[in-house]
Amino acid sequence: MSIEILQTHKLLDTCEAALAARFTVHKLHEAADPDALLAELRDRVRGIAGGNVGPELMDKLPAVGIISNFGVGYDSIDTKAARERNVRVTNTPNVLNDAMAEITIGLMVALARNIPQTDRFVRDGKWLKGAFGLQRELNGKTLGILGLGRIGKEIAVRALAMKMRVVYHGRRKQADEPYQFYEHLVDMARDVDWLVLIAPGGKSTDKIVNRKVLEALGPEGFLVNMGRGTLVDEPVLVEMLQQRQIAGAALDVFEDEPNVPEALFALDNVVLSPHQGSATHQTRNKMGALVVANLEAHFAGEPLLTPVV
Ligand code: NAP
Ligand code: 8YV
Repeated sequence: MSIEILQTHKLLDTCEAALAARFTVHKLHEAADPDALLAELRDRVRGIAGGNVGPELMDKLPAVGIISNFGVGYDSIDTKAARERNVRVTNTPNVLNDAMAEITIGLMVALARNIPQTDRFVRDGKWLKGAFGLQRELNGKTLGILGLGRIGKEIAVRALAMKMRVVYHGRRKQADEPYQFYEHLVDMARDVDWLVLIAPGGKSTDKIVNRKVLEALGPEGFLVNMGRGTLVDEPVLVEMLQQRQIAGAALDVFEDEPNVPEALFALDNVVLSPHQGSATHQTRNKMGALVVANLEAHFAGEPLLTPVV
């Protein structure tokens, strides 16, 4: 029998096919009795493909040496617990940068120009009765990026092409970057028209965008969350959108996906997206290939392609 691995959730079909061609794959998410499956596999499974891995699962599978995460964000994996158990962790960085940057700009344009509403306006025959009304432009506005990393840098390049001014906040100034650095997020929020969130999820960024930051962004400011729902105090965001204490928001990620606060559905100053950032054939195939390649490298005793632990 080939090397046995556990798949923790549904993966891209092409990725699942590639895994099945190389390994004996057990699918935890399809198990009628997950605990019984884990007990049966206790000393047989040597790798995990997917995310959502905490110390409890690691301890039920002591022979696991690698967790190959599908995604660049690995906040659903307890990396401290993995390190303590000598379990390697890999992710899928860079292959999704362009897809993410494209949809970020797309959601900004959709929000600024009310594209969901203008589409509905035509479909509902309302254009026959008059014009839709005037919108906002992005050129000349200031974009603040929380997290000028691999994806953030690609967003910045596209924002410059849209004739926007770009500034950023992170834990440290990046000497090689030409954009103005803000040491404090609230100061940047006060000075920008658009605030894009593309920092990782996890304890260090939990609710980093709180009421104080949103108040600084203010009634003419727009929020775009492309990172993780945990970056924002979501109930406060909903309240401030309802009260128009911020002008609007484009949201690709949410605190409790796929559940989205229903209060957002009634708001016309919000564009909602179901975690679509990397959801293209081209990009997801590359991500899936990285998941497989890291597992293959591990079991071949070769260097991992994209290790995080
Ligand atoms: P990255 O290259 O590691 O960039 C992360 C950036 O966040 C860095 O510039 C880092 O700058 C900053 N950062 C980290 N911790 C911070 C903190 N506590 N406070 C302020 N800034 C902080 O990661 P990436 O490849 O760009 O991906 C970023 C995130 O996007 C992922 O972790 C994931 O959560 C999310 N994502 C979402 C989707 C989607 O479908 N919506 C798809 C892909 C990725 P400093 O080190 O200077 O602080
Ligand atoms: C994926 C993402 O949708 O890469 C990430 O961090 O958020 C997205 O690319 C997610 O990882 C699970 O499919």
